[in-house]
Amino acid sequence: TVYDLAILRGDGIGGEVTDQALKAIDAAGNRFGFQTRQTDYALGANHYLATGVVIDDDIIAELGRHQAIVFGAMGDPRVAPGVLERGLILRLRSAFRQAVNLRPVRLYPGVPTPIRDLTPERCDMVVIRENMEGMYVSGGSTLYAGTKNAVALQESINTAPTITNVVDYAFRLATHRRNRLTLCHKKNVLVHAGELWQSIVDEVGANYPDVTVDYVHADAMCQHMPMNPERFDVIVTDNLFGDIISDLGAMIQGGLGVAASGNLNIDGSAPSMFEPVHGSAPDIAGRGWANPAAAVLSAALCLASLGEGQAALALEAAAASVLAELPALAGAEMGASTDELGDRMAQRITDTALATDGAQG
Ligand code: NAI
Ligand code: MG
Repeated sequence: TVYDLAILRGDGIGGEVTDQALKAIDAAGNRFGFQTRQTDYALGANHYLATGVVIDDDIIAELGRHQAIVFGAMGDPRVAPGVLERGLILRLRSAFRQAVNLRPVRLYPGVPTPIRDLTPERCDMVVIRENMEGMYVSGGSTLYAGTKNAVALQESINTAPTITNVVDYAFRLATHRRNRLTLCHKKNVLVHAGELWQSIVDEVGANYPDVTVDYVHADAMCQHMPMNPERFDVIVTDNLFGDIISDLGAMIQGGLGVAASGNLNIDGSAPSMFEPVHGSAPDIAGRGWANPAAAVLSAALCLASLGEGQAALALEAAAASVLAELPALAGAEMGASTDELGDRMAQRITDTALATDGAQG
């Protein structure tokens, strides 16, 4: 099999960590008998500064013909904040109808977490965030702008078809895990959107009788996720709450060096896109101080989505075992460079019987 991947390294450490993800994918390909065709797209700050364009429609169409997109990070101090992030990431998410943002929150053994007494056995959940709608449609207006009576109207769009697809995906995922699904919203206050989400969870849930369903308000979730993570398996939520609790999840699992994500197209109409949660980290770019684990774990999600489950487990196990050895998760204190850590992970995928000996994710 040959998988056709588009590679968007992007800015800052985006390229440094993506290189490690590609090494891991290549090592897994050799071991599990698949190949990848990798096409680089030089998008990001340099492209924008040279051309004045973030991305044009032809490139979007070209990207859309690949099977999956491996993404590093975008953002550069020379470019106004948001131009690249909104112009590229948000644009691709909607162009490719990536309705699901998948955020595993797993504490790997040996990874320091700020949550006291938390153990890996208690922390293995997935946040499924609606990725195209809600408060992030950017619709709205400001009345009486610039006056003392200004009124900002910010629209939130919540459509039954999209929510149904996202909720169905979350239920299906739960059946492959521990059969628990939690809706996270704020339905006591956001009554219109909340009622729609709850009614769709009730309706779709009828098709998944083995899955136990519950509901937690978004504010209460900010206590329960760090304190009682064992309560959660799959959490499904809207775009805004998902953004917030995903970052909370990243903190719980040891921070940005570890947090992986997938932007999933679930109707098969376009590629999915896989990226570490972190940004381009201009403060450490070029020094070899970036932790490549988040990028390698994102590549694992990519391989899983392509049907290479064993390879995905091998990447995850390799990243986790290297993480367990690190004295610190970032910077000079990691004790090895980004590149060396990537080599170590790739070597482990090649050498050991990590996945085939029955590691189960
Ligand atoms: P950031 O995630 O790039 O960095 C935050 C802090 O975490 C920094 O101190 C950085 O050194 C550290 N860090 C991040 N990733 C790390 C890794 N793999 N290993 C070790 N340390 C790591 O967020 P920041 O600084 O707010 O944003 C920098 C740029 O990235 C901005 O332009 C921002 O808009 C953009 N950004 C892009 C994202 C994307 O491409 N999806 C997501 C978040 C931010
Ligand atoms: Mg965020």
